[in-house]
Amino acid sequence: MYTQALNTRDQAAPSADSEQDARFQARVDAELKIEPNDWMPEAYRRTLTRQISQHAHSEIVGMLPEGNWITRAPTLKRKAALLAKVQDEGGHGLYLYSAAETLGTSREEMVDQLLSGKAKYSSIFNYPTLTWADIGIIGWLVDGAAIMNQIPLCRCSYGPYARAMIRICKEESFHQRQGYEIMLALCRGTPEQKQMAQEALNRWWWPVLMMFGPSDKDSQHTDTTTRWKIKRFTNDELRQKFVDATVPQGHYLGLTFPDPALRLNEKTGHWDYGEIDWSEFKRVIAGDGPCNRQRMKQRRAAHENGAWVREAALAYAEKRKARERAAYAEAAE
Ligand SMILES: [Fe+2]
Ligand SMILES: [Fe+2]
Repeated sequence: MYTQALNTRDQAAPSADSEQDARFQARVDAELKIEPNDWMPEAYRRTLTRQISQHAHSEIVGMLPEGNWITRAPTLKRKAALLAKVQDEGGHGLYLYSAAETLGTSREEMVDQLLSGKAKYSSIFNYPTLTWADIGIIGWLVDGAAIMNQIPLCRCSYGPYARAMIRICKEESFHQRQGYEIMLALCRGTPEQKQMAQEALNRWWWPVLMMFGPSDKDSQHTDTTTRWKIKRFTNDELRQKFVDATVPQGHYLGLTFPDPALRLNEKTGHWDYGEIDWSEFKRVIAGDGPCNRQRMKQRRAAHENGAWVREAALAYAEKRKARERAAYAEAAE
């Protein structure tokens, strides 16, 4: 996963040095990458730090709903694929924390912000995974939505983020396929299995559409991030692309979407869809989704249980440094 346009407060602050600002914008306009040591406007740094760290948090928290099913996967093959997928998500989180660190905020600080509830992560991971079909749905729809969001980020103006996204997108595409394959097996299975697939789609469809963030008319953030070439498409554009790509896939499975307003618009060639319940989105983002408390409790416990690993790694690094110092001293004698 998974970026989500959650915060719309920051606007680009006028830069102290407009000449530097103009040079920066010219680089961006020429599609050149901005690298960690290049001058950048403070608001660009802030926006990216927030976006990349939220993205990293989403990858890490996103391991929880699927991790819930590793011990209950129906076959060895499914278990191996799910394990690999959840490990990939952990890896995505780590790449992204590293990319965010190049902007000057430490990983400890970002993790603290997540654990204290100050930082957000994608609203989608606050929904429960009630049946095995939810694992299929997450791959098919949640990773599918993530791909839609993330492919344009491979061209983001900030070099470390863009490069991390290229590898991540390749892995997301495997995630999407393994999810769709689970759905296909269920839909070709017994009537009960097909019913389970349908119920999972009914529960996840609207929360997945919310992953693209607020509607364009409520998101003031888009202009600046578009000018900086962080964002290439608006939330509504990406949502529409996703709906257009996904609806035929659902119909191929023989499933129906829980939206009576969903229909192919002959004039535009796009699938029109119904009104999203933004009050639910706001509630989940504000911490009151079905699983927010449980997710944060699990993350905090994981962080505390892993304290000995961080301490051991630190002690090892210090020991190695001391050994190197001693070797230099000996060589200098
Ligand atoms: Fe991911
Ligand atoms: Fe994924």
